[in-house]
Amino acid sequence: MEQMPEFKRHRRLRSSHAMRAAIRENHLRTEDFIYPMFVIEGNNIKNEVPSMPGVFQVSLDLLKEEVQEIYQLGIRSIIFFGVPNDKDEVGTGAYVDDGMIQQATRLVKKEFPEMLIVADTCLCEYTSHGHCGVIHNHDVDNDESLKLLAKTAVSQAEAGADIIAPSNMMDGFVAVIRKALDDAGYQHIPIMSYAVKYASAFYGPFRDAADSTPQFGDRKTYQMDPANRMEALREAESDVNEGADFLIVKPAMSYLDIVRDVKNNFHLPVVAYNVSGEYSMVKAAALNGWINEKELVMEKLTAMKRAGADLIITYFAKDVAKWLSE
Ligand code: PBG
Repeated sequence: MEQMPEFKRHRRLRSSHAMRAAIRENHLRTEDFIYPMFVIEGNNIKNEVPSMPGVFQVSLDLLKEEVQEIYQLGIRSIIFFGVPNDKDEVGTGAYVDDGMIQQATRLVKKEFPEMLIVADTCLCEYTSHGHCGVIHNHDVDNDESLKLLAKTAVSQAEAGADIIAPSNMMDGFVAVIRKALDDAGYQHIPIMSYAVKYASAFYGPFRDAADSTPQFGDRKTYQMDPANRMEALREAESDVNEGADFLIVKPAMSYLDIVRDVKNNFHLPVVAYNVSGEYSMVKAAALNGWINEKELVMEKLTAMKRAGADLIITYFAKDVAKWLSE
């Protein structure tokens, strides 16, 4: 044979299933996932969200059954979103004792004490205008909204939430919530901050599921510009200094560079939020038979771990738990 130039033989390590498995660098585990659930007011309701096939709004009386299924699949973390009937200017439903998240948390903690309950702490599902805080002069008032957010966090902790996850993107929310939790005797409850949250078109289907579309304007005065990278580090840095215990990057799929930046620069667990629009796109293509759903989902979630995510909030959690046990 003609003499070949020198080169590396990378294919040696791809020669068989066993060889590939032996050198695999990243793995998905059922423990990596947090499953989002929409708890709706009323009775005997299990509504499939039209833009999110396989995702349901579930009323409290049917919640136990739903959680039972999740529990049997080995999933041990849920994040709750409330979908109340009545809304008002100041999002009262977020911080009343019998709010949707508070009731769901009590019920699930009683039936499944080992389940980790993450409470999404925001006002947008509870305000009549759909914004994440109180409106003054056509914009969300930062410091007034913080007071209500702190009340919400404390009432969620009182109901038994294991982790408080503030998502409204007001400045100072970690500091104010940390202090409120500490003052109320919840020093031991961690904060999973939506530290880096972009103003994203990928949230569209969620706003159908949670009925939280802003009734005027958009969220660009509080959520971040998708064009920015340094700003993500500034946001994460403040939250670390204010006492966050976990840092969420959201969305995930189109923001893996940011996941990696946050992972490299801070020493807290990083959570990637694989958001609704990312789910819907994959589902739509899968339902059309255009992609192999299982392979694609496993690939994209593994990519999130490779980018540095320690945990992933995903609507695919149930599917993946099934696939991992096959
Ligand atoms: C609430 C909140 C949103 C999401 C999670 N928490 C919506 C928003 O900011 O409009 C989006 C999640 C998803 O798209 O799956 N502030």
